[in-house]
Amino acid sequence: MIRPVLEVIDLCKSFPVRSPFGRLTGEVKAVNNVSFSIGRGKVYGLAGESGSGKSTIARMIMGLTPPTSGDILLDGEDIGSTGGSPAHRRKVQMVFQNPGSSLNPRRSVSQSITVPLHANGLPRADRARRVTELLDMVQLPASYAERYPHELSGGQKQRVAIARALAVAPKLLVLDEPTSALDVSVQAKVIDLLVDLGRQLDLTFLFISHDLSLMRNFAEKVGVLYLGSLVETGRTSVVFENPRHDYTRLLLASVPVVSAEEEAMRPRIPLIDGEIPTAEQLLALRKAGGGEA
Ligand SMILES: Nc1ncnc2c1ncn2[C@@H]1O[C@H](COP(=O)(O)OP(=O)(O)OP(=O)(O)O)[C@@H](O)[C@H]1O
Ligand SMILES: [Mg+2]
Repeated sequence: MIRPVLEVIDLCKSFPVRSPFGRLTGEVKAVNNVSFSIGRGKVYGLAGESGSGKSTIARMIMGLTPPTSGDILLDGEDIGSTGGSPAHRRKVQMVFQNPGSSLNPRRSVSQSITVPLHANGLPRADRARRVTELLDMVQLPASYAERYPHELSGGQKQRVAIARALAVAPKLLVLDEPTSALDVSVQAKVIDLLVDLGRQLDLTFLFISHDLSLMRNFAEKVGVLYLGSLVETGRTSVVFENPRHDYTRLLLASVPVVSAEEEAMRPRIPLIDGEIPTAEQLLALRKAGGGEA
């Protein structure tokens, strides 16, 4: 059996909740028993509303925050103690939501891209050639190497962030809302670029977004997070055509429809009567002992 590039097994993360005076008053289960895996060269889409735990999962995969319990396997190896190490960083890289704040304004494009090359020990003489190669991959002219972030559009900044992530030739790219700060027309172009790069470089993607319409064309499989739990997961077409969870239906029903083809993919099962409880209501319910734990 070929091992998946990423396996997430029973992952949990709790954060302490403190009163304004710093007293420990409880904990929030930001991620609750989440399991999924991504095969080589595949795209897995993780969806869910704000606060559902998407970024917390991304941060644990990157080794930026330790899990409370559970395992994360990269190429079959538990990242446990290696999380965040240079060897780990060569396998997995991340692209963040806001390229404006993830790029250092005082560094030129070339300087930003060479930071990981430095760390990787690429000889100085080869760096300029590699920067040009990386800019070419993200379809930016070589002359952009000398530009600074304020001289770039949002979409161009995100291309630079992608080039920087690709510098160490990672296997897995974690994309945390990579296009939500961009105009709709630019979003589509960045997604097209990611699809191309994935094919060319045999990349595996974890694509995080609250926008299900973006997942349709990009992700083979999706998982839907609700209050830290994966309430639904499976092939994108199956989940979209036959959503099992009320929350998934609600997410899909709020996706704007732009074509007849997409209209055909809208869930046909009517939404249940009444309202889906908000995160706060559900937490209050759980605290009071109601609802499933
Ligand atoms: N460092 C932290 N300390 C305490 N609570 C945290 C911390 N990081 C995240 N949380 C809480 O964990 C939950 C999940 O947050 P997370 O950022 O993972 O959500 P998200 O799905 O990425 O949301 P968004 O779509 O807004 O980015 C939230 O309730 C959040 O307040
Ligand atoms: Mg987030």
